[in-house]
Amino acid sequence: MSNSIHTTGDLAVSVQHLGLTYTTTIDRRPTLKSRLKSMGRGTKQTRVVRALDDVMLDVHYGSVLGVVGSNGAGKSTLMRVISGILPPSQGKVEVFGKVSTLLALGVGFSPSLSGRENVQLGGLAAGMTRREIEDHFDEIAEFAELGDAIDAPMRTYSSGMYARLAFSVAVTVKPDILIVDEALSTGDAKFKEKSLNKIKELRSDSRALILVSHALGTITDICNEVVWLDKGKLIQRGNPDEVVDAYAKFLHVGKSAAINEDV
Ligand SMILES: Nc1ncnc2c1ncn2[C@@H]1O[C@H](COP(=O)(O)OP(=O)(O)O)[C@@H](O)[C@H]1O
Ligand SMILES: [Mg+2]
Repeated sequence: MSNSIHTTGDLAVSVQHLGLTYTTTIDRRPTLKSRLKSMGRGTKQTRVVRALDDVMLDVHYGSVLGVVGSNGAGKSTLMRVISGILPPSQGKVEVFGKVSTLLALGVGFSPSLSGRENVQLGGLAAGMTRREIEDHFDEIAEFAELGDAIDAPMRTYSSGMYARLAFSVAVTVKPDILIVDEALSTGDAKFKEKSLNKIKELRSDSRALILVSHALGTITDICNEVVWLDKGKLIQRGNPDEVVDAYAKFLHVGKSAAINEDV
């Protein structure tokens, strides 16, 4: 919980010629024909996915950047690289500040530990002191609306409970740079609204927010710039109306229909 030294216009994240390639080894069950052909030489195949291709992006303090694009466009991969979870294959990423990441479900918490223990560990990992965690624990637990479940192992949590706690920790840390990757779509309507208000509250000259969402209405509502990714490439960057409009056209739906979708 640093006293931020950043002000509007300062560079928060610099992404230069970023490329990321996933290489996965697939174990194909061999057919008789392929086995004869390969003469027992093994049938491992590699699947190579170019998830990010020469992406250039600057994010400045004071801005709320929306990220849109179809499934598989590379949005989550870009967030993982900015968060330092994945190293780039090409190019580089520089981050000037403390990042707190709220990725799509499945990252960060240990299922065998209770919510309380995960908050303590997560807070320490995010750079909070034990004292700060203690001071903020009630605030985190209350925002997450978990009640007694805060002391139950997280493997017993529903995805909504999991997401509420993750969101609560990420925003309480008061990061310099907050990345929210589709996590807003997991809660019920009431929690969604509460989280959106929290994000609006976190908008500040000394903070940069990056928001990945399919809810184009939310994007145009709270972002001041938007980037559109497709097949690993940055297609367009600009003001929210302009980019969302172009993306919605690309999706072959009217803008109003896209804005009303709530996913
Ligand atoms: N861990 C992974 N291993 C292999 N391929 C992956 C992995 N994660 C994502 N991909 C692939 O990389 C591409 C981009 O995925 P992703 O960044 O998750 O896109 P988005 O978040 O925009 O839906 C997709 O083709 C996806 O299948
Ligand atoms: Mg994603």
